[in-house]
Amino acid sequence: MIRANGFEKVIRVITGNSRDVELEEPADVIIHEIIGNDPFAENILPSIADARDRFFAKRKGRFIPARLDVCCAGIEVDETNLLTMERELKEAREFPGQYGLNFDPFIKRLSPGENTRPTISYSYDRQAGFPFQILSRECVLYSIDFLEDWGDVQAPLPHTLKIERGGNLNGVVVFFRAYLDERTQLTNSPFAPKTHWEWNFRALSKSRPVKPNDNVKISSELVQTLNVQRIVVDIV
Ligand SMILES: C[S@@+](CC[C@H](N)C(=O)[O-])C[C@H]1O[C@@H](n2cnc3c(N)ncnc32)[C@H](O)[C@@H]1O
Repeated sequence: MIRANGFEKVIRVITGNSRDVELEEPADVIIHEIIGNDPFAENILPSIADARDRFFAKRKGRFIPARLDVCCAGIEVDETNLLTMERELKEAREFPGQYGLNFDPFIKRLSPGENTRPTISYSYDRQAGFPFQILSRECVLYSIDFLEDWGDVQAPLPHTLKIERGGNLNGVVVFFRAYLDERTQLTNSPFAPKTHWEWNFRALSKSRPVKPNDNVKISSELVQTLNVQRIVVDIV
């Protein structure tokens, strides 16, 4: 593409993870897109902090996108889409008969613990609309300026889901809004036209009947497991 468009003398490709790459001169602009379905799951925060500190002169330059909002909205997930531990266990107990193998270690690993939450079973269909009932307005959990330190991002904060529609609040959809410039935003919000990003659904540890104008306190925490960052959202 670079050669086909006559840019081979202008663009040099350096292949590798940005955190392993050295630049010969400071960058003015860094264009990046390492936003996962869980917006943090590609380790965008440490990678961007490293790029800011090492690639810009005196941490000054322009990131595109420059800012990222990570948001959620409350949803009601149908029972059939909620994969509870009891249901997973019931299905797993049928595996030995189906596959002729001993599944004991797997079944033991599935045993319910105090903090086991259901997972939301759902397959993304590009043609279909949003699969669940949205009960709340958008709630911004994090608003990150990539030029600033993101250490504070880790602090769990109380937030409020403002309920607009009655139902059984048992999950959230997590999404992002990336600010490419002063006017242009890229988002996988369920309130905006669909993109190639899938929606990221989370079950809450408990469900709550809600009605319009209710305010439901939720917490959001940035955690790291096996070197991958992700957020955990729950009812307070
Ligand atoms: C969300 S995907 C975006 C891919 C591309 N924009 C597209 O739409 O096809 C992010 C990609 O960047 C890679 N990646 C993640 N962190 C990186 C880093 N620090 N340096 C270089 N590549 C990285 C991932 O392996 C993944 O292939």
